Amino acid sequence: MESIDEKIEGIKGKVKDKVAVNALSGGVDSSVVTFLGKIALGDKLKSYFIDTGFMRENEPEEVVETFKERGIEVKLYDAADEFYDAVRFIKDGEDKRKVFSNKFYDIFSRIIKENNAKYLLQGTIKADKIMFDKGQSQHNIRTKSDYAELGIEEVIEPLSDLYKYQVRDIAIDLNLPGEIYNRPPFPGPGLLIRVLGEATREKIGIVRKAQKIVEEELKIYNPSQCLACLPNDTATGMIGGKAPGKYIIIVRAVKTDDFMTADIFLPRKKTIEKLSKRITGEIPNVARVLYEITGKPPGTIEYI
Ligand code: XMP
Repeated sequence: MESIDEKIEGIKGKVKDKVAVNALSGGVDSSVVTFLGKIALGDKLKSYFIDTGFMRENEPEEVVETFKERGIEVKLYDAADEFYDAVRFIKDGEDKRKVFSNKFYDIFSRIIKENNAKYLLQGTIKADKIMFDKGQSQHNIRTKSDYAELGIEEVIEPLSDLYKYQVRDIAIDLNLPGEIYNRPPFPGPGLLIRVLGEATREKIGIVRKAQKIVEEELKIYNPSQCLACLPNDTATGMIGGKAPGKYIIIVRAVKTDDFMTADIFLPRKKTIEKLSKRITGEIPNVARVLYEITGKPPGTIEYI
């Protein structure tokens, strides 16, 4: 395994006096890559946070601020309207992922051209590569020839030999703040893949609120990942004395070392009751909360 210094020297040696870009999501992988890249390249690395509209509450602003506080400029690229337009009417999960990935690539292509960048820095880790090889699409993995068409000479992936816990170790070695290396993991396509069926702004708003509550209530247990998902169906519920069909939220939490397999995580009954009360009480139009009990395998962590 390469040391941190070797990784930094590797980036320097490749990019030399040219320009590199990277898209930061705030997750530990892309954050570590941004820090390594900044140490190696300084201003020759242009870092962007692409706001897809599917991020967690206040996430774009918080991530940009966290980096700013450490002297690293990350440009916030607001693409939410573009993403919502692109995914309108799309119901199938794999189609949503594809459209998301294409839109992401469109926007990133623009950024590459605007900066005349020759190198791309990516936070791809070992598990991403393995899942990609098994057929699961990843929104940010493209072929070399796709990038070559944009003038990219090389995609640099300094973390591709590491699992998530090893990336966290680097984050700690680099003295990164806890809000980065302890950040609950969140997929690139974000809340788009947590709404089953068409992802309307209303449904994304509901699942965003539910995600916040789930993370707050399960934090004490330190799950490897926890999520709220909004299935494409309704159930009856008593809201304000009426019994209309209302939305359902599924809560899922897992413990895992490598995200390749995962055990379900069951909190105490009190916590489950609180989750249910808060989600139905604080989010308009949610009448039911379900708790997921499938491990991986046979389930995946995400629903689509
Ligand atoms: P699955 O659902 O395959 O998820 O068991 C394993 C881990 O990968 C995350 N995940 C993604 N991360 N882009 C990402 O950046 C994606 O398209 C994507 N799909 C799944 C998932 O949240 C879990 O941590």
